[in-house]
Amino acid sequence: MTHVLVTGATGTVGHHVVDGLRAAPDASVTAASRDPVRARDRLDCATVRFDFTDPTTYRDAYADVDAMFLVRPPALSRVRRDVVPALAAAVGAGVERVVFLSVIGADRNPIVPHARIESWLEDAGLETTFLRASFFMQNLSTTHREEIRDGRLAVPAGTGKTSFVDARDVAAVAVRTLRTGTAGAYDLTGPEALDYDAVCRQLSAVLDRDVEYTDPSLPRFLVSRYRLEGDLSKVAVMAAIYTTARFGLADRVTDDVRTVLDRPPIDFRTFARDNRSVWT
Ligand SMILES: NC(=O)c1ccc[n+]([C@@H]2O[C@H](COP(=O)([O-])OP(=O)(O)OC[C@H]3O[C@@H](n4cnc5c(N)ncnc54)[C@H](OP(=O)(O)O)[C@@H]3O)[C@@H](O)[C@H]2O)c1
Repeated sequence: MTHVLVTGATGTVGHHVVDGLRAAPDASVTAASRDPVRARDRLDCATVRFDFTDPTTYRDAYADVDAMFLVRPPALSRVRRDVVPALAAAVGAGVERVVFLSVIGADRNPIVPHARIESWLEDAGLETTFLRASFFMQNLSTTHREEIRDGRLAVPAGTGKTSFVDARDVAAVAVRTLRTGTAGAYDLTGPEALDYDAVCRQLSAVLDRDVEYTDPSLPRFLVSRYRLEGDLSKVAVMAAIYTTARFGLADRVTDDVRTVLDRPPIDFRTFARDNRSVWT
């Protein structure tokens, strides 16, 4: 029986990982959260208080843990200060394997925090699996939910395509690799790359009303998004992601989901149908 600590357990991918491990006969799971009571109500499993930035939470969280699903919280970009102490404590506590939710391209882009985490984990001698995920379809049902409800999608991606992946597929790959102990790195994408016109056409068809892609200029996006989010670093990351797509650098489609799960990845139309109620 492998005991897995799931970090980011209340997040986009993590809650599906918890569900998958709870259903697995050969694994037990503890969900890590800064608010374990709220997490237990939501996830209906064992929970433990865990905060990357609070070393007093490490000891209980790592007790009897064999493997960890590692999610870097988006707000923690100073890896050495905010993430490495928790990883070093995991090594000290005897955690042997880490499946890390990384980002596609981390192997070619040393600037992203995920690249620094990958390299730290490798140097630490842990058994590692890196899940280098493309852009989640779920960004459209969370970050962009309100505007899609209002009939538009305003991202500065031009006609560039993105190989959107469903977070449920990323979680399914995580569960599989946590259970089998498969080491390595996977580039996880959906079955096709879509531009945002095609995304809006598919949303319009599923919702049976118009969703317009507005393709704002970068400055206009920065200003309007900052008004909404009030978080400059988050908006800067979003701008970088959509600019990458605009320049045609986010469209690589891989077969890795199918290779691990032995089934095709979830397509955008299915994601939109499954999440229809979010936008209505
Ligand atoms: N969004 C994408 O398209 C995409 C694509 C590829 C890779 N990624 C990467 O995937 C990761 C997750 O991104 P996401 O947007 O999906 O976020 P998320 O996992 O939905 O949410 C963040 C999670 O982090 C936890 N958290 C926040 N601060 C914490 C802290 N100080 N200590 C412990 N846990 C903390 C939160 O748990 P509690 O509030 O319960 O503590 C929550 O479960 C990021 O590293 C991101 O770069 C994202």
